[in-house]
Amino acid sequence: MSLHDLLKDKLPQEKLSLVPKGFEVIGNIAIINIPPALDDEKYLIAQTLASRRKDVKTVLGKLHKIDGDARAGEFELLLGNSTVTLHRENNCVFCVDVAKTYFSGKMAHERNRIVQKVNDDEDVLVLFAGVGPFLIPIKKAKIVNITGLDSNPAACTFLRKNCELNGIDANIVLGDANSMYNLFKKPFDRIVMPAPYGRDYFLNIVSSSLKPRGIVHLYTFKKDFEIPHFKRLLEERGWHIEFYRNCGDVAPRVSRYVFDLRKYN
Ligand SMILES: C[S@@+](CC[C@H](N)C(=O)[O-])C[C@H]1O[C@@H](n2cnc3c(N)ncnc32)[C@H](O)[C@@H]1O
Repeated sequence: MSLHDLLKDKLPQEKLSLVPKGFEVIGNIAIINIPPALDDEKYLIAQTLASRRKDVKTVLGKLHKIDGDARAGEFELLLGNSTVTLHRENNCVFCVDVAKTYFSGKMAHERNRIVQKVNDDEDVLVLFAGVGPFLIPIKKAKIVNITGLDSNPAACTFLRKNCELNGIDANIVLGDANSMYNLFKKPFDRIVMPAPYGRDYFLNIVSSSLKPRGIVHLYTFKKDFEIPHFKRLLEERGWHIEFYRNCGDVAPRVSRYVFDLRKYN
């Protein structure tokens, strides 16, 4: 039964129509975006949600859009008492503090696609590594040298912890991707770039850290009509597009796209 159905007898029709259709679950935490018009009902909504999903122990209300370099959200605790949870995905476990680090479970399938692309013996760099949802399954499945970079100290702390939890070794670097030139002396076979919104320019920065015929998996946020122009731009800059696809909506008419790009020179 949907949240909407469960609240049918508890809310008047004008309020019921404002109840969010969905919510995200990370580990045992549910995150829901309750509109200000339902402020008086937010605890009732949180309790109803938890009664429907027995695995949910904490309910957080989203206060602001994810913002700032760390990409961590701001939340109000509506039920439960912790923003730290264990999330399982692609046979890995991730300890996450959703108030301090970015995490979304919506990309599990795409992250698994990347794991399948990686070959043994590669040198792999995951930029914007977060708590490790790309890095950890790659290292678990393939014999690679892998490095993760993030500028958020909390993300690096959780990434180190998650490496331990999953029994893998990785080189974790706390640093700014703008300074890549100074951070990495050797080039990589593959660079995974789950970049935050509006940071396509990092593609120019990573280019010099890529081996000849190396590959970049670029994540970018675009409206559908922007794609033909973006593809032309990539090709003009010498990138060969091996594959691209829409990985799902992030806002009205805006989607996250992935481009698998190879550089031949
Ligand atoms: C969109 S999140 C992606 C996190 C993770 N890869 C995932 O898919 O869940 C972007 C990450 O980039 C990090 N970040 C933002 N700007 C950065 C920069 N200039 N250098 C390094 N990391 C940065 C943030 O701290 C955040 O963890």
